Amino acid sequence: MILLRFVLPSTIQMSHKINRPHPVLADPTQIHQVLMNLCINAQHAMEGRQGLLEVGLDELLVDEALCGQNADLRPGLYVRLSVRDTGCGIPPENLQRIFEPFFTTKEVGQGTGLGLAVVHGIVRNHNGAILVQSQPGQGTEFQILFPAQTEASNEKHQPTSQPPPPANAEHILIVDDEQPIIHILKKLLIRTGYRVTAHTDPCAALEDFRAHPADFHLILTDLTMPGMNGLEFADKIREIRPDLRIIVATGFRGDLFTETQLAEHPNICKVVEKPLTPESILRLVSEHLLHPRGPA
Ligand SMILES: Nc1ncnc2c1ncn2[C@@H]1O[C@H](COP(=O)(O)OP(=O)(O)OP(=O)(O)O)[C@@H](O)[C@H]1O
Ligand SMILES: [Mg+2]
Repeated sequence: MILLRFVLPSTIQMSHKINRPHPVLADPTQIHQVLMNLCINAQHAMEGRQGLLEVGLDELLVDEALCGQNADLRPGLYVRLSVRDTGCGIPPENLQRIFEPFFTTKEVGQGTGLGLAVVHGIVRNHNGAILVQSQPGQGTEFQILFPAQTEASNEKHQPTSQPPPPANAEHILIVDDEQPIIHILKKLLIRTGYRVTAHTDPCAALEDFRAHPADFHLILTDLTMPGMNGLEFADKIREIRPDLRIIVATGFRGDLFTETQLAEHPNICKVVEKPLTPESILRLVSEHLLHPRGPA
């Protein structure tokens, strides 16, 4: 909260109501990213005028009726993080689209439309749900619900008691010859709390990697690139760091490999087909950081 006060202009009043809820299994850096993205959007919605930004933390008991309104919810106790603003609000036709990657109403160069896509990806990875209420001209409230860790939920071994995504600031190397793809991946991963080094040229990526090989936690590479393909790149990496996992993204179905081909590159932990949604990218990255030696 203190950090936010520094970021927000003084025309915006802040208030917070924090009750002590049950714990949640969550990655603190990712929760911080969620809160920052929501508060920055709220600030933009109140741009140039007086406004109130209210952040709350409490619990919500979700019943069958509420589950009917949101497919991500299951009956049970949730911890609720809410961010409410008195800004411009969201017109109903936009409300359907705000979580789409690249949906933005901001001017070119002002917004990428990735903020809420990142929020959505993080919340889904934590088995949570998002509720939004907005009135044009009145303001907006985002409620982020995370499953509460109660004694009952631990005993029942619900999916909510699975371990959370990994701790953050892991360093990810991205290699793709298409600059726009690099741009999107970089933004998405940095906003989720990872460190990212990106290259459009696999030879330059290799050189950079050789300079500090111990500093990386995961590699995401394209398959078809001029100079060196993703498989050759993976082999070169394996000579230096055989333990480091690589996710290879392919452009066409025809590029998918057989088990035997993959067995020749044991450091490739996953081959995925483009295009990937922000949610699936975040899930892939957190899964392979969490279970680095899992099956392909
Ligand atoms: N609190 C809010 N009040 C009004 N509109 C909002 C609010 N939050 C989001 N929106 C709308 O949803 C759109 C998408 O938000 P999102 O955070 O994904 O992208 P952005 O803010 O436009 O760009 P970026 O976050 O990448 O800088 C916004 O452009 C805006 O139209
Ligand atoms: Mg935003």
